[in-house]
Amino acid sequence: MTQSDSLLDRLEIDCPIISAPMAGVSTPEMAAAVSNAGALGSIAVGATNAAGAEKMLADFRGLSSRSLNVNVFCHRPAHANVERESRWIERLRPEFERFGATPPASLKEIYRSFVEDDEMLELLVAAKPKVVSFHFGLPPLDRVCRLVDAGILLFGTATNLVEAKTLVAAGVNAIVAQGAEAGGHRGMFDPDSPDDTLSTKDLTQLLVRELDVPIIAAGGMMTGGDIEEVLRLGSSAAQLGTAFVSCDESLADAGFKKALLSSSAGSTLFTRAISGRPARCISNRFTSVVEGVSPVDVPDYPIAYDLGKALHAAAKAKDEFGFGAQWSGTGGSRARAMPAAKLVATLREELAQARFIGENPARS
Ligand SMILES: Cc1cc2nc3c(=O)[nH]c(=O)nc-3n(C[C@H](O)[C@H](O)[C@H](O)COP(=O)(O)O)c2cc1C
Repeated sequence: MTQSDSLLDRLEIDCPIISAPMAGVSTPEMAAAVSNAGALGSIAVGATNAAGAEKMLADFRGLSSRSLNVNVFCHRPAHANVERESRWIERLRPEFERFGATPPASLKEIYRSFVEDDEMLELLVAAKPKVVSFHFGLPPLDRVCRLVDAGILLFGTATNLVEAKTLVAAGVNAIVAQGAEAGGHRGMFDPDSPDDTLSTKDLTQLLVRELDVPIIAAGGMMTGGDIEEVLRLGSSAAQLGTAFVSCDESLADAGFKKALLSSSAGSTLFTRAISGRPARCISNRFTSVVEGVSPVDVPDYPIAYDLGKALHAAAKAKDEFGFGAQWSGTGGSRARAMPAAKLVATLREELAQARFIGENPARS
């Protein structure tokens, strides 16, 4: 049995596709549609509390009895710096004023990291989803052990070999190899460390060669043909985020979906000014306003995001969607709008075709 087959076996799914957990975008309805179609659906609870997560889990369970991946953020809790935050508010004040709004007087740490969220841990241990996945690092080992003892499989995001080895040493069962093409936040443990920005293919091959756990490639994949390529490089499955943003079940707002389905999606960049951590976003009004800002001037994640979300709300109230966190991978210009179940069926069909062509080159 290949490593991919044995991962699919353990996940109780029959195709090597995972819809990425996407805080604020993926929904229990999307996850259920994906899981019911034989892939692995995910929900992201990093931007909510235990009560919010409990509701999402119940909503999923109302729609599917299949496997589910629940994703948590394991960032270092933010260091507040009132002076830096005040300067940041002043820096963006003119943008608020353009929309007849006033920025908040101070900023809050809007999300609690899983590394210190006891209620979330208890909820997950009791709910026992098939998988819990970590983004931005690892929780303390006693928390990892609680999840393992509950029989939950663990995934962790790595953007380089050192992070991947750290995850494996902590007992994580599979690594999500997040390449630089990926949409959304870089899963790097320390946002201030140098970033090698390895591509999905290079990182996948490196981790497959160096590690003895299943590798799940993530970043820039939009079609079954893309998935076939990373499977050929030794990955056990593929995790796709941007491809699912334009699905019917996505919570992305109309402005985000419109940008993704327009020529704007062809231009993405890394910015940390929206949330406080590097993330790949469609180039929009927000990214141009903060272009060239020094990382040291941006408040810690997720304190900066408090202001970013307030600015988006002020702009959106005046029908300007260009201040949204329009996270997208480099493949965004190939996004397709359809129900999630249809997207999984399409990806499966394209993957089967690509495999057939790979195995029968003369007939292509
Ligand atoms: C809108 C959006 C939100 C995301 N939110 C999360 C998240 O909450 N947790 C997480 O682990 N990854 C998140 N990601 C990253 C994905 O897990 C994955 O690495 C990425 O989507 C893969 O690249 P692709 O978008 O090119 O498919 C997000 C990605 C996008 C596009």
